[in-house]
Amino acid sequence: MTRIFSGIQPSGELHIGNYLGAIRNWITLQQQHTGSLFCVVDYHAITGNYDTDLLRQRRWDMARSLLASGIDPSKAALFMQSDVPEHTELSWIFTTNQPIGDLERQTQFKDKAGTMESIPAGLLMYPVLQAADILLYRADRVPVGEDQVQHLELSRDIARRWNARFGEGFFPEPQPLLTPTRRIMGLDGKAKMSKSLGNTIGLLESDDDIWQKLRPAATDPQRVRKSDPGNPDVCNIFQLHKAFSPEATVAEVDTNCRTAAWGCIDCKKVLHTHMVAELTPIRTRAQLLADEPSRVLDALADGARTARTIAQETMREVKQRMGLDPLKVS
Ligand code: TYM
Repeated sequence: MTRIFSGIQPSGELHIGNYLGAIRNWITLQQQHTGSLFCVVDYHAITGNYDTDLLRQRRWDMARSLLASGIDPSKAALFMQSDVPEHTELSWIFTTNQPIGDLERQTQFKDKAGTMESIPAGLLMYPVLQAADILLYRADRVPVGEDQVQHLELSRDIARRWNARFGEGFFPEPQPLLTPTRRIMGLDGKAKMSKSLGNTIGLLESDDDIWQKLRPAATDPQRVRKSDPGNPDVCNIFQLHKAFSPEATVAEVDTNCRTAAWGCIDCKKVLHTHMVAELTPIRTRAQLLADEPSRVLDALADGARTARTIAQETMREVKQRMGLDPLKVS
């Protein structure tokens, strides 16, 4: 049986990069694979300095946004990582057997650690906790964006190493599930869309706020005047059309850009219409959930119960295989 697991940090608002790279796929997959698990990974969000009140707010907002996006608690378990203590328990177990060099080579560690004077050990151990998140549920498929592929490679190494020592075949080797929109660029068109770079469009932003961000967004840099023909292949706005607009519109955009029949603003107006069409129902559901917070809390409580049942069973077997099972009088 295929088991799907994925996670998202509550380190800011849910943005269209997260949505197109991962969340939209979670929503499709929950239909095909009942018993999928989706986690707000709050322990991952405390590896740097943070404000406690803001974290509390963001954990809440993330759960609400995921439900509003279409995670259905009757099909999938949605839960907070910190509600299932077995994540950190299994993470410690993997840490004991993890070469530090492999962790130091992770791109995300190098990027973040490079800007810090004192590096928290949690930042280095982050991908070990990520492996524990996945393997705790013995999940074999992980819908993520492209930036998580290296972490998943490490998760496979961890599973392989533990299996070789304690139980061949016990943990599956989890594979990423990528979408055609696996790497959404920011509105500057230069770097990956990312909460920390401030180049995002939030999933719950108003139509007008979205337009204010789209209007100045980078397009084909060679196209200076409206009369210059453009190259959609190098235009970030065209990539977003492919994600949000119907096929016929994408074809029309392609032609009208190459022939300069449309200027970039015309093209962005059409994109705005299709984006808003997809995002408005999400925003409406998010508002309904804000008015009825018990629905969010109930979904999280149910999700955590389901997750804990699986997690406890995995840990029972892990401990038994490692000589850590409850002692008995012989
Ligand atoms: P996070 O919180 O940064 O991002 C959540 C998901 O969104 C995807 N994503 C993107 N996809 C395409 N284009 C983008 N610009 C973009 N930005 C973000 C990410 O690839 C991810 O799928 N380490 C993880 C969280 C995590 C996790 C896990 C994921 C912890 N444990 C276990 C899967 C399984 C992270 O920081 O994702």
